Amino acid sequence: MERPRAVGFRVIGLLEGAEQVANTLDFPFWSLPWLKGAFVCGAEDRFKLLESEAFTAGRIWVQNPSSMIPPLVLEPEPEDKVLDLAASPGSKTLQLAEMMGPGADIAAVELVRSRFYRLKRNLASHGAAFVRTYNRDGIKVQRFRPGHFDRVLIDAPCSTEGQMRPDSPSSYSHWSLKKVRTMAGKQRLLLESAINSVRAGGVVVYSTCSFAPEENEAVVQHALDTFGEAITIEPISLDLPTRTTALLEWEDQQFDARVSRAVRLLPDEAFEAFFVCRFRKLEHTHPF
Ligand SMILES: C[S@@+](CC[C@H](N)C(=O)[O-])C[C@H]1O[C@@H](n2cnc3c(N)ncnc32)[C@H](O)[C@@H]1O
Repeated sequence: MERPRAVGFRVIGLLEGAEQVANTLDFPFWSLPWLKGAFVCGAEDRFKLLESEAFTAGRIWVQNPSSMIPPLVLEPEPEDKVLDLAASPGSKTLQLAEMMGPGADIAAVELVRSRFYRLKRNLASHGAAFVRTYNRDGIKVQRFRPGHFDRVLIDAPCSTEGQMRPDSPSSYSHWSLKKVRTMAGKQRLLLESAINSVRAGGVVVYSTCSFAPEENEAVVQHALDTFGEAITIEPISLDLPTRTTALLEWEDQQFDARVSRAVRLLPDEAFEAFFVCRFRKLEHTHPF
């Protein structure tokens, strides 16, 4: 976490001529083999990227490679009804819109008003104005749209431990154990809302950029305890360099064996720390 981190970026696929955009950059960059149109360049070229014509024209979205993983794990199909329950600034909403194509049925929710408008602007300026946006509390969505969506992403607000840098006190000055506990409470409610909003047979992906087991495995365990036989956790097959399995115990808490199907991404020279878990809401067939 002390070393300079490569800069991840995606060429916006919803805009015409996406294939040529990367060729206009005049510094070295490398493609990420698991996502078309995704790249990294060296930290020393960050400013060249941000000053490039492609970036200023809105053809490029800067996004850490770890943050590109949750939409891939959600695997939306073009005809799905998709909900992004904590959406601003819109990195993953945009990625979902690109994966599903123009006109896709996507609802994006953001609680904080200023961040909501930022989300709207970002979607409009990157070819995804067709996404429906709502300035609402994601925890309440379950009341209005129970069982409505095929897939739900909850990229939860968190203590952002994965973005801390030892050389940048402002990246960790907000941190406290109390903050971790407060976020964990919010995350449990948002994940419950996500699971209640998805149809039987549908998929929910939960992600954070925190290391804290309280915000990750313990939140997943809480969902298993709350929903019992109605949900399960599915394995994630993506081959990623720094992936490791989720924890099975933390302090005095033991977790269900299924929790280890979730993935922890450890930080390295390209990836920020991330946690990703894929739930399936089960369709209960009648025993007779
Ligand atoms: C980790 S960020 C989301 C990042 C976003 N998914 C992306 O990839 O660009 C979490 C977001 O959730 C918002 N948020 C916090 N509490 C919320 C709630 N109860 N309902 C909806 N959004 C909430 C925060 O304001 C923040 O914008």
